[in-house]
Amino acid sequence: MKRTRIKNIFSEGNIGQTITICGWVRSKRESKGVAFIALNDGSTQDTLQLVVPSDSSAFNKLSGCNTGAAIRAAGLLKESLGKGQKYEVEVSDLEIFGEADSEAYPLQKKGHTLEFLREIGHLRPRTNTFGAVFRVRNVLSNAVHEFFQSRGFIWVHTPIITASDCEGAGDLFTVTSLDLEKLPAGNNGDIDFSQDFFGKRAYLTVSGQLEAEFLAMSLGDVYTFGPTFRAENSNTSRHLSEFWMIEPEMAFADINDVMQLAEDFIHSLCGMALEKCEDEIAFFEKFYKNTSINDLRSLAEKPFVRMTYTEAIKVLEKTKEKFEFPVKWGLDLQSEHERYLTDKVFKGPVIVVDYPKGIKAFYMRQNTDGKTVAAMDVLVPKVGEIIGGSQREERLELLEGRMNDMGLPLENIQWYLDLRRYGSAPHAGFGLGFERMVQYITGMSNIRDVIPCPRAPQSIKF
Ligand code: 4AD
Ligand code: MG
Repeated sequence: MKRTRIKNIFSEGNIGQTITICGWVRSKRESKGVAFIALNDGSTQDTLQLVVPSDSSAFNKLSGCNTGAAIRAAGLLKESLGKGQKYEVEVSDLEIFGEADSEAYPLQKKGHTLEFLREIGHLRPRTNTFGAVFRVRNVLSNAVHEFFQSRGFIWVHTPIITASDCEGAGDLFTVTSLDLEKLPAGNNGDIDFSQDFFGKRAYLTVSGQLEAEFLAMSLGDVYTFGPTFRAENSNTSRHLSEFWMIEPEMAFADINDVMQLAEDFIHSLCGMALEKCEDEIAFFEKFYKNTSINDLRSLAEKPFVRMTYTEAIKVLEKTKEKFEFPVKWGLDLQSEHERYLTDKVFKGPVIVVDYPKGIKAFYMRQNTDGKTVAAMDVLVPKVGEIIGGSQREERLELLEGRMNDMGLPLENIQWYLDLRRYGSAPHAGFGLGFERMVQYITGMSNIRDVIPCPRAPQSIKF
């Protein structure tokens, strides 16, 4: 079916052309023998006004044109005399694909709560808010590839089902084809996973990093962009059980290289959102007030504050601010501490580097002080931690030593240690939580509102 997208009409429509548009009716009203339909097709924030004169054959079909109905309309594109719109279409032909019962359609009135809209996740993309969220998400996805491709990074696809269970990034979901009613018993009352599909226990991945490392140690600079899964019981506005992560990994690079890459990457994503989603961001600025074009402009350029974990702890210890969680060298920063640094002290993104080794993963490179590792987190206003990364421990002895200290089994991960046996080299990388990035740009306060089908503990409706 040949149709013109409403977005294209607003950007390049020719007055006097006959056009066909398809979409969903937002509203319909009649006045003095003329009907007006506001039509949206998802391509843009704006609706197109359709004008149906009473003497056209289309007028007889209007009863099926309630809010929510899917229609096709053809007619003449005209300059609109109405306020706030440049174009309208004088309809000569109207086809109704699917009516929507005006009593039952859940998206009747304006001003539904976000909580209510989560209950109707299959219809919420038809609202202004979610249309805007998913268009921004699309632009950012594409911007990820443009950024890395323009810098010569190779896009690699790391597995979703994995056998490594020691990454330490979070609790794992098991993947099994065993009959859950009759699980085969192994030793000590355990389940015998040798009878499972893969002959051993398998999981959904929490991160593509370990595999990205071996690809970086052969291809140079690589990145992944895929779904990751964490079974932790975190019911917060920043956690999902299934989220998308972008993980660049650079060979012949250290912690400073990766901090610079992280900063450039976030600047570039903000810049692309401003360039391609101005209408959407203006919408979020007006209706949600958690983001603004001006804020994003400055975020797209301003250098990030950089400080060590030890310095961050000093700042937090000095303040009179009351925190729920204790502040002490050696303890992890909680989101209230991170947000205090970004929102109150520095009023912008902060990179914290050199964390105590006791709170970080086994693979992070040990610093010469014997206490810290070359780990960095990028913290941004309102969202908190958006990136976690590190320089990786490339020295075999130190890596094995750390794993032994932490009680991690070495047998399953010999392939990872091989990278340190054969042609080891300094390398570093990070993971950016894609939904947190979408939150940061749109200002949506709950992460469940920036992904089509959010998964969280006790919540998997769609
Ligand atoms: O800090 P994390 O756990 O780091 C890793 O997984 C490393 N393996 C990355 C790497 O170095 N290649 O996670 C990275 C980012 C976090 O900073 C956060 O933005 C996001 O992933 N993230 C989550 N986003 C949504 N829901 C969750 N449950 C998340 N857990 C982490
Ligand atoms: Mg982290």
